[in-house]
Amino acid sequence: MPAVVIVGAQWGDEGKGKATDVLGSRVDYVVKFNGGNNAGHTVVIDGETYALHLLPSGILSPGCVPVIGNGVVVDLSVLFQEIDDLDKRGIDTSRLVLSANAHIIPDYNRTMDKVTERFLGSRKIGTTGRGIGPTYADKMNRLGIRVQDLFDEKILTQKVEGALELKNQILTKVYNRRAVSIDEIVQDLLSHVDRVRPMVADTGLLLHEALGRGETVLLEAGQATLLDVDHGTYPFVTSSSATSGGACTGSGIAPTEITRVIGIVKAYATRVGEGPFPTELFDDDGERLRTNGGEFGTTTGRPRRCGWYDAPVARYAARVNGVTDFVLTKIDVLTGWDRIPVCVAYDVDGERVDEMPMSQTGFHHATPIYEYFDGWTEDISGARELGDLPATAQAYVAALEGMSGARISAIGVGPGRDQTVQVHDLL
Ligand code: GDP
Ligand code: IMO
Ligand code: MG
Repeated sequence: MPAVVIVGAQWGDEGKGKATDVLGSRVDYVVKFNGGNNAGHTVVIDGETYALHLLPSGILSPGCVPVIGNGVVVDLSVLFQEIDDLDKRGIDTSRLVLSANAHIIPDYNRTMDKVTERFLGSRKIGTTGRGIGPTYADKMNRLGIRVQDLFDEKILTQKVEGALELKNQILTKVYNRRAVSIDEIVQDLLSHVDRVRPMVADTGLLLHEALGRGETVLLEAGQATLLDVDHGTYPFVTSSSATSGGACTGSGIAPTEITRVIGIVKAYATRVGEGPFPTELFDDDGERLRTNGGEFGTTTGRPRRCGWYDAPVARYAARVNGVTDFVLTKIDVLTGWDRIPVCVAYDVDGERVDEMPMSQTGFHHATPIYEYFDGWTEDISGARELGDLPATAQAYVAALEGMSGARISAIGVGPGRDQTVQVHDLL
């Protein structure tokens, strides 16, 4: 009864979508357990590119059941838009299952997200503007609207009234916006009921029974460790649990069922939005990483901030998530550099610090201490075994493995499904 978790080990966009897709044909369920359409997972199959936001990447594997777990926040119009787009491309989306306990992103929370960011000014988070933070805040405040509420109009109306009582005061008196009409929101939500109903299930029970039958469940994180609301660079984080603990709370699978945790880590680092990023580059190397790696956001199109590999961050991710295996992605992007710097520790106000600093101020003050590794010039996109990589690339991988806290079991050498060097099997 294997339950395997995939998490991002850095600031997101490590290639979780590709890693999930590669395993998709061998698993029975793929579960998205956190986040919403703030995620952007690009998957390339036979030269065709698919950009997934709210749907689990397993939707692209015909043999498995894609599940949106209770920990996800769902924008219903985005859900159906994504389904329609895939249907048009001949992808069968009919197997999708949606948790009755997942929270819905009502239109007013997209507004709240945008006006809050504007209000914060220079202290903004740089959110994706999809209403993610306000919807998780409503969940914690016990003012959220859940999928199951759609099936009881009276309860739904009461809950929307409850949520808007305070929000309309804030919108009109703090942000100078028009009040939101309760009736319009309720009618909009109800317009989705017929389409939602057949997808909805008790997904915790469904997955528990599947594991009992010996089936394989893959749990796919959105975002990443350093964007996790507890373990990330708070407050510059997303509002959900993107680490392996979140895989349990966000799906209803117990911690004792998890057999493996796969950390996806990029051979360099990127970040979208605000917040500390010690290895960030502001020079030609940063521009080259961005261009060679195609580092532009899948969701917002924003250029991603780029920097060198940060080993203390990877070690931290290994620790927080209990990573058993790393998938090292995008090593092909580093082709052509004479020497490749890797951050092995930080200098924090004149002191060497080997692990993630305890405090956010410490991390803000951290400057990287680099070790340098020889590069390679050969095209490695066709490599399929470790021995196909140039000796210097093998040495780079071995060095990262030695300092990152878990073995590297696969290496990405291109975006395609088959462009992977497999070192150890992941299932
Ligand atoms: P996710 O959010 O973690 O799923 O990652 P994204 O999809 O946002 O960003 C990763 C990007 O890198 C996507 O465009 C992938 O197609 C691409 N990608 C994934 N693995 C590799 C790799 O090993 N090499 C290269 N060159 N691209 C990759
Ligand atoms: P995937 O799954 C990279 C970032 C945003 C912002 C912060 C909070 O593709 O790795 P939010 O809208 O979630 O409240 O924004 O988190 N962020 C991501 N960065 N990849 C993502 O997802 C992200 N999802 C959110 O840029 O800094
Ligand atoms: Mg992404």
